[in-house]
Amino acid sequence: MRAFSLDPSAVAETRERAARQAESGGSAALLELLRRGETPDDEGLASLFLAPLDAPTDALLAIARGRLGHTGDPLVETFSPLYLTNECDAECKMCGMQRLNAELERETADDGTVVAQLDLLHARGLRGIAVLTGEYRRGARRREMIARSTRAMHAALERGFRHVLINIGALDEPEYEDLLGALPRAEDGRVSPRVTMCTFQETYAPDVYAKFMGTSPDNPRADFDRRLKNFDRAADAGMTSVNPGVLLGLNRDVAYELVALLAHVRHLQARGLRVYVSLPRLRKASGAEHHRGVDDDTLYRVVALIAIAAPEAKVVISTREPPHVQQRLLPVIGVLTPGSPGVTPYTDSGARFELSKSQFEVLDERPIEAILGEILAAGATIQDYEPRPAA
Ligand code: SAH
Ligand code: TRP
Ligand code: SF4
Repeated sequence: MRAFSLDPSAVAETRERAARQAESGGSAALLELLRRGETPDDEGLASLFLAPLDAPTDALLAIARGRLGHTGDPLVETFSPLYLTNECDAECKMCGMQRLNAELERETADDGTVVAQLDLLHARGLRGIAVLTGEYRRGARRREMIARSTRAMHAALERGFRHVLINIGALDEPEYEDLLGALPRAEDGRVSPRVTMCTFQETYAPDVYAKFMGTSPDNPRADFDRRLKNFDRAADAGMTSVNPGVLLGLNRDVAYELVALLAHVRHLQARGLRVYVSLPRLRKASGAEHHRGVDDDTLYRVVALIAIAAPEAKVVISTREPPHVQQRLLPVIGVLTPGSPGVTPYTDSGARFELSKSQFEVLDERPIEAILGEILAAGATIQDYEPRPAA
C-alpha cells in the first residue's frame, strides 16, 4: 500500500464545508443520525465538533460510550513512560528538551539504571512501558540512542512487560532493522511481541508545524513529510501497532486537526495496523513560553468524536490531565497512562517531577497506584496492570 500523504488544502476545504454546515444548523440532524447508530462522513463529524449548541458535549460523550462495545464498566489499558534521556537535537519550541533550552539540566541514564527502573515498575504492577528519548542528527549519538532504546525494549520484554511503546522520533528504514532485528517474528514476518511505534505529528498543518518544529534541514524533527510517513516505514519493517497524535494547543484550528487525524487513522487501519491515538494538551515547559492549550470542553468533543468515528482506535490520555478530566473521559478512552516525563524518575512508591529536568509539567503527580487504584475501585478493568496485593 502507498505511504500516507496529506493534502492540506483538501483538509481545509472539508473543514470549511463543515463550518458552513454547522452554521446552517445541519448538525442537529447529524446528531439524530448518530443516535440511530449511523456515522456521518468526516465533514459531518467536523460539523458536529463545530456545533456545541446543536450537538452538546454530553450527548457526544454518551453516544461515544454506547459505541465502544463495553457499555458497562470502563475497560482501559495502561503503560508508564520511561525517559532514557532528556537530551535532544531538535528545536521544538513547546518542549523543555529542545536543544536550545539552556535552562534544562541534561541527563542520560546508563543501562543499569534503566533496568533497575524496569524492575521497579514491574514490581509496582506495570506491564506496559513506553521508552522515550529525543531525536538526533544522523551520526554516532543518534545510533547510540536508538541502540539504548533497543536494549531497553528487550530488557522490558525479558522482564515480562507485555506492551512496549517506542517514542524516540521517526526512524529510517535501516534503523527499523536495528530496532526490530532481534525480535521474534510470526510466520508472516511480522513482529510478534506487542511493540507500538509512537510519533505524534503534533499538527497536520504544515505552516503550524514549521512554526513550532522549525525548518532547518539539519534539525531532525523539521521534515513534516518524513514524520508523516513514519508508520508506513514501521509497517513495512514488520510492526503491527502504531500511535499517531495531535498536540492540542499548537493549532487553533482543532477542526482541521480532527479531519486530518481521521484521514491518517483510516489509512493506518486500512493497512491492518492496530491504532492508538494520543491527544496530549500543551503544558508548561522549562525554557518555553507558555502557549495556551485548548479548554476541557474542546478536548472532550475531540475525544468523543474520534471514539465515534473510529471505535477500534484507542484514545490515549495521560496524567498531563488533572483527575476530573481523566474521570470524565474514562468511559470513552482506551488507554490511561500515568507517570513522569523526568529521566528514569521512579522510586519505590512515587516519582520525581522536577520541571528543571523534565520535558513538561504534569498536572496529576499522584503515585501510579493511587491513580489506577481509584479507577479500579470505581469498577474499571485495567489491562497490563497487576497491582501488588495490599499489605
Ligand atoms: N522526541 C520524541 C518523543 C517525544 S515525547 C518525539 O518528539 O517524537 C512525546 C510527546 O510529548 C511529543 O510528541 C509531544 O506531543 C509531547 N510534548 C512535547 N512538548 C510538550 C508540552 N510542552 N506539553 C505537553 N506535551 C508536550
Ligand atoms: N509524552 C509521552 C506520551 O504522551 C509519554 C507519556 C506517557 C507521559 N504518559 C505520560 C509523559 C504521563 C508524562 C506523563 O505518550
Ligand atoms: Fe526533542 Fe521530541 Fe522535544 Fe521535539 S518534542 S524537542 S524531538 S524531545
